[in-house]
Amino acid sequence: MGTYVDIHGVLPDNTALSEYGVQPMDENFSKKPLKWAELGFQYVKTDFRYSAIFQEGKWLPGSLVSEENLIIHEGSPSLHYAQQCFEGMKAQTTQDDRVVLFRPNLNSERMNRTASRLLMPEVPHKLFIEAVEEVVRANYAWIPPYGSGAALYIRPMLIGVGENLGLKPARAFEFRVFVSPVGPYYKSSGLAAISLAVSDFDRAAPQGTGSYKAGANYAGGLLATLKAQELGASEALYLDSASHRFIDEAGSANIVIVLKTGELITPSSEAILPSITKRSVMEIASEQFGIKTAERAIDLRVEFNSFAEMGACGTAAVLSPIGRIYFDSEWHILNGDGYTVGPVMQKLYDSLVQLQRGEVEDKFCWLHEVKI
Ligand code: PLP
Ligand code: COI
Repeated sequence: MGTYVDIHGVLPDNTALSEYGVQPMDENFSKKPLKWAELGFQYVKTDFRYSAIFQEGKWLPGSLVSEENLIIHEGSPSLHYAQQCFEGMKAQTTQDDRVVLFRPNLNSERMNRTASRLLMPEVPHKLFIEAVEEVVRANYAWIPPYGSGAALYIRPMLIGVGENLGLKPARAFEFRVFVSPVGPYYKSSGLAAISLAVSDFDRAAPQGTGSYKAGANYAGGLLATLKAQELGASEALYLDSASHRFIDEAGSANIVIVLKTGELITPSSEAILPSITKRSVMEIASEQFGIKTAERAIDLRVEFNSFAEMGACGTAAVLSPIGRIYFDSEWHILNGDGYTVGPVMQKLYDSLVQLQRGEVEDKFCWLHEVKI
């Protein structure tokens, strides 16, 4: 347990550090002196990241490295043609001081689904999980303690590297995992309602890459986010690009809606990222609370008056209640004043985070412990 002495900046491979005689330093058994509760969603440099290279058709042994900068060829396809993808996960300290990941197998599967779509090699499941575990373990001192409200955000990424100019797939790839302690994604303290503004831009074409976690989707969304923020919204809400009627998703989260009938619905769309948090919230709603759930096309303008509550789900966003939506040149208010957290969002949020923090029995078997 603790932080490790890494003399060369690179450790030989991804086997447990202790097997190489790398010993934890006593003073690093303690956590870093961060103001955990004041953290936002920003990069904080930690001690270790993991890197593995794919070349000549195979993965070479990976290792923990201390250097946070990458040196890659200027012709790398990830830089020019966005041949890259990423994942987002969190490690949390539980009430009984264990360190846990939330459904990491689903992130591994999703990364490989994206990799295949972008003609990149799959990251073997074992490599993915071991890399994540190694980085979390090596950065133990940076994992926010239980009760701080913060978590260790984990960013696995896969990038096409090496000399290239024409539009063709890279021949070499780097799989890297880095971590950063983070607080809430949206600026707020505790559970507070956010607002979204419907974007005039499209995020994803029906048969495009919207359902994959490809960086290119996010570059195209930066201007949409800026425009939404200029209107006073937390971020952009996208409608389907074919008809501009049906709700797709927000820039960094899927949408769930509680209807006045009590039913919980979520958009079905080929163009949205399949959110692991959304899937979990829908499962909690149906299996724990017996709420009727459905995944279907949702026409924003036609159905808005039947909405009781809305939420944005994601690893970074957790479950953020949505209080106001801007569309057709005006704000549309949900749940009373647009600032109050509705009762269903509150109970779904509570159940989700209690589960993630090990405060209740893990009856869905969603937690994956990282042995420290
Ligand atoms: N939609 C988009 C566009 C995202 O970037 C994310 C974040 O990962 C999500 C949805 C939520 O997905 P997950 O709950 O798996 O983090
Ligand atoms: C996540 O929630 O993990 C994401 O990747 C969203 C990102 C925009 C921060």
